[in-house]
Amino acid sequence: MLEVSGVATGYLGENVISGIDFTVGGGEVVAIIGSNGAGKTTLFRAVCGLLRPTAGTVRFEGEPIHGWPTHRISRAGLAFVPAERHLFAYMSVKENLALGAYPRRPRPVDLDLVVELFPRLGERFAQRAGTMSGGEQQMLAVGRALMSRPRLLMLDEPTTGLAPNLADAAYRALATLRQSGLTLLVAEQQVPLVLRLADRGYVLENGRIQMEGSAKELEQDPDVRRAYLGVT
Ligand SMILES: Nc1ncnc2c1ncn2[C@@H]1O[C@H](COP(=O)(O)OP(=O)(O)OP(=O)(O)O)[C@@H](O)[C@H]1O
Ligand SMILES: [Mg+2]
Repeated sequence: MLEVSGVATGYLGENVISGIDFTVGGGEVVAIIGSNGAGKTTLFRAVCGLLRPTAGTVRFEGEPIHGWPTHRISRAGLAFVPAERHLFAYMSVKENLALGAYPRRPRPVDLDLVVELFPRLGERFAQRAGTMSGGEQQMLAVGRALMSRPRLLMLDEPTTGLAPNLADAAYRALATLRQSGLTLLVAEQQVPLVLRLADRGYVLENGRIQMEGSAKELEQDPDVRRAYLGVT
């Protein structure tokens, strides 16, 4: 579904990621693991069109999408939930969800699915997004992305700022989405959580993919255990 090949990009004329190769198959959950500053967000920006790759190709369902503007990529079925969530703080929960469908009209059936996944959002339709708790804002960011009916959902550190019990809840919601057949690409530092969800993963360090494998292989890898699982 997604094929990233030889991608490089960065800021102010300097690449911070380079030689990036990875794939995501339809129905798969793929993790991008890496510590602070590894380049996870930069990589996601390159895939969803917020940053233009200086080298390499990004193909989505066979179509080369590198160089496309973000709105066109999102219309093609690739949704991105940034770590900072970027909600419209002064608009209501329901308005935020409706805007997720833009430029199409929000479909009631999609709204129903979001409320089924996150009943809390349904109870808070009229509340301003900016006054929702951190966990609720994460639900809203995911719900808003789902309103565009994505075929691939990219989530950048979905547990940012969440207490451990809320991080678990966020991953339970992602497991439900996975069961519905949605393809997921998740950047995460909370490695045990993401490897429980993912089929496969890639370790990104210093702007390069250093390792790849099944979730099980990565979980058992001594370097991964030392670096991310606190095992000495
Ligand atoms: N807008 C920017 N301008 C200049 N440099 C940037 C910008 N955004 C990120 N960088 C740099 O690019 C490198 C990779 O950052 P990036 O945000 O992609 O890492 P990350 O893996 O997402 O880290 P984190 O887990 O902390 O979110 C870092 O050295 C960072 O300082
Ligand atoms: Mg980041």
